[in-house]
Amino acid sequence: MWTSEHSGEAPDRRPQAGGHMMSPPRPVRLRATGISKKFGRRQVLSNVNFEVRAGEVAAVIGSNGAGKSTFLNICAGLISPTSGQVEVNGSVGYCPQVGGTFDFLRPSEHFVLFGRGDGLKRGVALARGNEMAALLGWSPDPKVQSRHLSGGTRQKLNVILSTLGGHDILLLDEPYQGFDRGTYTDFWEVIWRLRDSGHTIVVITHMLNAMDKVDQVLDLTPTGNERNR
Ligand SMILES: Nc1ncnc2c1ncn2[C@@H]1O[C@H](COP(=O)(O)OP(=O)(O)O)[C@@H](O)[C@H]1O
Ligand SMILES: [Mg+2]
Repeated sequence: MWTSEHSGEAPDRRPQAGGHMMSPPRPVRLRATGISKKFGRRQVLSNVNFEVRAGEVAAVIGSNGAGKSTFLNICAGLISPTSGQVEVNGSVGYCPQVGGTFDFLRPSEHFVLFGRGDGLKRGVALARGNEMAALLGWSPDPKVQSRHLSGGTRQKLNVILSTLGGHDILLLDEPYQGFDRGTYTDFWEVIWRLRDSGHTIVVITHMLNAMDKVDQVLDLTPTGNERNR
């Protein structure tokens, strides 16, 4: 029996139904409620509900134009929904589907620029960027500007930049376009590592073979009469 000399409230250690102790639920990091989005007269999202907790990986899937990027942008706070609410508990790192890197900057300069933006010291930003690059099987050439990188390598850079700040929530929009098979595997290793340390990761993907690895799937493919919208 648990006893305490303190006068404060004792933690509730009563056994839960079933006789065993339940670990406390992980905190909700991101909750989207009733999200709808119209661009002009075009209804892109209709009443989307989504909740993801600390230490979870969620995949967002759906056909081209289903509104996946729009949804992620709304979660990132980059655009507003027409209706609905987004609740974010924690800091957010975001990896856009296109862009996100600069032609005339070297990878190391990206690490410093983005790292500084995340409040890291220069040396820490460089070290962390190179460490993440190594996890993705990449050793950035200090002399090469990003415009000379292959599409896949440039996408690695894009992903790395979103992870530099060690944010609670990582939003990744089709992050592994152009990755070869080995990098794809390395990428998921990085994601599991982040998840195991309590981070929340939301990944937009087309690749259904990743589905069995994730904690939940949000399918934005329009159904029924939504299809002709
Ligand atoms: N800023 C915008 N203005 C008007 N239409 C947009 C805008 N952004 C996206 N759309 C339209 O919304 C739909 C969903 O786009 P998007 O979210 O990029 O889809 P997905 O990422 O699932 O391919 C598309 O038809 C696209 O053309
Ligand atoms: Mg998209």
